[in-house]
Amino acid sequence: MAELNKVSVDDLKVTGKRVLVRVDFNVPMKDGVITNDNRIQAALPTINKLTSEGAKVILCSHLGKPKNGPEEKFSLKAAAARLGELVSAKVTFVPSDVVVDDTVKAAVDKMQNGEIIVLENTRFRKEETKNIESFSKDLASIADAFVMDAFGSAHRAHCSTVGVTEFVKETAVGYLMQKEIKFLGNAVENPVRPFVAILGGAKVADKLNVISNLLEKCDTLIIGGGMAYTFFKALGYNIGKSLLEEDKMEYALEMIKKAEEKGVKFLLPIDTVVAKDFGAGKPHHTVERPLDDPSKPFISDDEEGFDIGEKTRALYAEALKDAKTVVWNGPMGVFEIPDYAEGTKAVAEALANIDATTIIGGGDSAAAVNQMGYGDKMSHISTGGGASLEFLEGKALPGVEAVQDK
Ligand code: 3PG
Repeated sequence: MAELNKVSVDDLKVTGKRVLVRVDFNVPMKDGVITNDNRIQAALPTINKLTSEGAKVILCSHLGKPKNGPEEKFSLKAAAARLGELVSAKVTFVPSDVVVDDTVKAAVDKMQNGEIIVLENTRFRKEETKNIESFSKDLASIADAFVMDAFGSAHRAHCSTVGVTEFVKETAVGYLMQKEIKFLGNAVENPVRPFVAILGGAKVADKLNVISNLLEKCDTLIIGGGMAYTFFKALGYNIGKSLLEEDKMEYALEMIKKAEEKGVKFLLPIDTVVAKDFGAGKPHHTVERPLDDPSKPFISDDEEGFDIGEKTRALYAEALKDAKTVVWNGPMGVFEIPDYAEGTKAVAEALANIDATTIIGGGDSAAAVNQMGYGDKMSHISTGGGASLEFLEGKALPGVEAVQDK
């Protein structure tokens, strides 16, 4: 069991105390409406524990990437309203663009035990992303204790994730952090074998260190998505107009070699769905990859690949059949378009039907699994996109490191 040697929210005595909690309420929004509240739901166990024990809970988070200070579309107002619907405690949103000011301090002073305040977007303060002391101190000035529960932001060394911990006496990790690290950490450090890793998504460049690190740990590595085409090209295949990262071809070959050296089964698609024009409802067909000779016809010059083919889906389902631990990050094709969603769906279905610990590494693959209705069949769907990738790369997350050791 991957042990997290950090003070837990369970170790704090919180009754009557002002507890600042860093949550990740960076939720997808469209026209001011939250389109997916998973991250808010995922923060509830920590929030409910604190309110039920009579803490004064002050929540802070970023939302989006505001460049030049406050912007209405990045306000946390809607997230605070959604939280108000999900908890029984009183929730007050304090809409101060400076995040912590006299209005906020007055509101905190008036809080009763068990109440919640939601602060405005921490990135409305320019110091936030540069981890500048002035804002960290402002945040600390309204807190007796700090709880880090924003796994999705734990790879960011910002004021609200790292800086603030220097100025608050007591710091701890919340339940979501513990759950994420337990699942991801166990999978990588202590997997029940066979351990299969599935990596997809558009680019090899986004997964460089993940591929390399997982090759040290897993028994089978499955590749899909746009990045497969760079591997094909590196092996000498014609890939037509498909996505190519020329500068990553050498790396692709190195990874294939590394897999061989480590005795890891390295699976690339054996067929792929191609089209002349991209888009829903446009003609497309499947081409098989000539495994014996890369110079034989494969993808033609005027075609582009968008998904793994039927034979690959069967091959990957077979490779997953006996797995006991699976980590999946990145879709197998352009799943947003139904014509190219079949590969991703097949992998999701295979995972849903096996007796294994199945972990979805956040971002697009989490969205895909939920969209396809397999969300509740997975052991764990990470709330972290970039954070889960950095974790799978084997990197220490600054937002975890900053919390006091046990
Ligand atoms: C995420 O959505 O991955 C996290 O909330 C981090 O967001 P960021 O990439 O804007 O720092």
